[in-house]
Amino acid sequence: MFAEKLGSTFDVFQTKSPSLIGVDIASTSIKLVELSESGKGTYRLERYAIEPLAKDVVQDGNIANLDQVSDALKRGWKRLGSRHRHVALALPAAMVITKKIIVPSGQKEEELELTVEAEANQYIPFALDEVNLDFQTLGPAPNNPDEVEVLIAASRKEKVEDRVAIAEAAGLRPRVMDVESYATQEAFRMIAPSLPANGRDQNIALVDIGAHVTHFYVIRNHQFLFSRDQAFGGNQLTMDIQRAFNLSPEEAESAKRNQGLPENYDNDVLQPFMETLALEITRALQFFFTSTQYNQVDHVVLAGGGALLPGLDELVAKRAGVATVIANPFVNMQTSDRIRPRQLAQDAPMLLIACGLALRSFD
Ligand SMILES: Nc1ncnc2c1ncn2[C@@H]1O[C@H](COP(=O)(O)OP(=O)(O)OP(=O)(O)O)[C@@H](O)[C@H]1O
Ligand SMILES: [Mg+2]
Repeated sequence: MFAEKLGSTFDVFQTKSPSLIGVDIASTSIKLVELSESGKGTYRLERYAIEPLAKDVVQDGNIANLDQVSDALKRGWKRLGSRHRHVALALPAAMVITKKIIVPSGQKEEELELTVEAEANQYIPFALDEVNLDFQTLGPAPNNPDEVEVLIAASRKEKVEDRVAIAEAAGLRPRVMDVESYATQEAFRMIAPSLPANGRDQNIALVDIGAHVTHFYVIRNHQFLFSRDQAFGGNQLTMDIQRAFNLSPEEAESAKRNQGLPENYDNDVLQPFMETLALEITRALQFFFTSTQYNQVDHVVLAGGGALLPGLDELVAKRAGVATVIANPFVNMQTSDRIRPRQLAQDAPMLLIACGLALRSFD
């Protein structure tokens, strides 16, 4: 579906658009990614940028300060150095209600729209004029050839409007509003081929360790089997550092990244935090096993800034007993000469959502 046609930018299921810059407005920074298609199904990373955000301007995906975020987006876009202004944005999954419904097949677009609205009314706890609604026909219903399965997605208007306003105030043109979990899944498609057996017929746990939230997904053949959010992330370590060494949040954050901390940091602060993180991951795996038919995962893939903690992959592998790697969605892509490989290797785990959004240019 096209934005122009709907008169809105809430297009979870939009099919095609010219060169979109993927923009992930996260809690500690805005990530921007621009890709180009270098052949059928092969991509090239043209540019990316990570623009830091001041503390608390984005909390749990809610934009507390629109001006500060749009200023940061403008700076990020300038630094990116792109001539493209069309952007794809995303909402946290927690802000989007999705529901599969079954409707009679053979309906015209307008008819279907009315059916979807009527059905949506039952599932969405807000008045329909307060929500943005989008839908996509998935295919024939499993048990009845006279019916089709339709996926509907709805989000409160103001959540969509905030993001649109930010992009427009930064001089950009929002074209797609996706869902962060879908974008992550899209980026994972780029990672799967580098896993044994191309990751096919395997359960893969993808763990995105952000600053405040850790998203835990299990993916099998490009479908989610399970997903769970945990209010825990790298910011916890920053607070531990503040407390242990009597530092301000900014000092602690910088010391953590530049490894400029006293000798006892490793033993007293970093290792206990990494153990907690590994424990959270093994717990999430247990939840997955108890709530599904599966009792194993084949791989763990770590993403987000938390994945950058040195040795975390080995620790998780040991505690969970599962081979663990760090996510790099660009591993099978060409990269522009502008991009320094060593810097990219550091940044790539944090760019899954932005990469997944940039991929919307080509689907
Ligand atoms: N080199 C590094 N070493 C250790 N931690 C790091 C490093 N770089 C970033 N981090 C931590 O990773 C976190 C930020 O990661 P990321 O960019 O994935 O989060 P985010 O997407 O902004 O947050 P969220 O997804 O919760 O909104 C911060 O807590 C930051 O301190
Ligand atoms: Mg994030």
